[in-house]
Amino acid sequence: MTMHDTQGDLSIENLLKQYGNVRAVDDVSLHIRPGEFLTLLGPSGSGKTTLLMMIAGFVAADAGRIGLGGRDITHLAPEQRNFGMVFQGYALFPHLSVRENVAFPLKIRRRPKSEVEAAVKTALDRVQMAHLADRLPRQLSGGQQQRVALARAMSFQPNLLLLDEPLGALDRKLRVDVQMEIKKLHQDLGTTFIYVTHDQEEALSMSDRIVIFRQGRIAQIGTPSELYNRPQSRFVAAFLGESDFIAGTVQSIDGGIARIATPAGEILQNGTKHPSIGSNITVALRPEKIALLAEPTADRRNCLPGRIVAWRYLGGHLCFEIAVEGIGPIRAEIAAAEGQTFLQEGKQAWLAWQPQDGVTVTEE
Ligand SMILES: Nc1ncnc2c1ncn2[C@@H]1O[C@H](COP(=O)(O)OP(=O)(O)O)[C@@H](O)[C@H]1O
Ligand SMILES: [Mg+2]
Repeated sequence: MTMHDTQGDLSIENLLKQYGNVRAVDDVSLHIRPGEFLTLLGPSGSGKTTLLMMIAGFVAADAGRIGLGGRDITHLAPEQRNFGMVFQGYALFPHLSVRENVAFPLKIRRRPKSEVEAAVKTALDRVQMAHLADRLPRQLSGGQQQRVALARAMSFQPNLLLLDEPLGALDRKLRVDVQMEIKKLHQDLGTTFIYVTHDQEEALSMSDRIVIFRQGRIAQIGTPSELYNRPQSRFVAAFLGESDFIAGTVQSIDGGIARIATPAGEILQNGTKHPSIGSNITVALRPEKIALLAEPTADRRNCLPGRIVAWRYLGGHLCFEIAVEGIGPIRAEIAAAEGQTFLQEGKQAWLAWQPQDGVTVTEE
């Protein structure tokens, strides 16, 4: 029997949590699929931890409902929810060995001794920590402690694993290693994971879907590529990766392509959801979609003049800051191999891209 076909299906309906006059979680609704790796991503203070604590049962909702496999668990005690947790403030017990830490959730559930031993062994094997089972937490590195915390969270076969910035304390290199291990663990277990982070790269590389939070509300939900390629708002485009923004006024719409007047010249933009003629519009454009040219071109249909303010060498690519009259600084990234000799500070350069490379976003 796999775990996810039993009860991993979580639904959150109109959940609300208010602290004083701050709505930490403001009318959030969300459906989490069984076996999914779902990431809550957002700036500090956007309500990620509060939502996770409500799912765990440690924070009571002011309004709304949480359902698990069709059953209402809104008022169920945390220990009755059977969720595994890896939280920042939920460290290993310092006086217990690795083995005893991992056995702890099983012991409080009064599982038989033979079952505890087998489950501890399985969990420690999964995180490659069986050889250090007799150590105390302080005899382990940060990464090893995090692996034990993971083993403890999954030893009792939870319905759901909740992880709140579990890699926050690790250095960058180690973080990437443990990210891969967590991802592998998710694939092996098939359990639903709800993962909180403020690190966009971590979210992009690990998740089936990402929920972007802003001030207690969901800004957008989607797969990593949906959110990266089709951000709906300026906020999402700027939070997930780098983005340039070009604002203008719609002049005409022809065959699904809008002609937009900007202070630097006209541009074309694909998309069906364009507003009416005369309205203002903002186009988000990823820096890597922009080509830099010495002369204007007819190949790429959008072409605006600018002046190179600064550039940086970043290994695989070059990053340019281009001043565009009436628009401001625009960031462009090109492959280092394509670095042309004309690309020098103070020189004019043309920014070129195709109408389908941009995406129209709301200003909020
Ligand atoms: N126990 C609490 N008492 C008062 N305010 C809180 C409490 N917990 C969270 N908040 C507030 O709720 C908002 C969301 O916080 P939090 O959920 O911790 O955000 P995140 O995890 O995204 O950083 C913040 O404004 C925070 O200050
Ligand atoms: Mg938090």
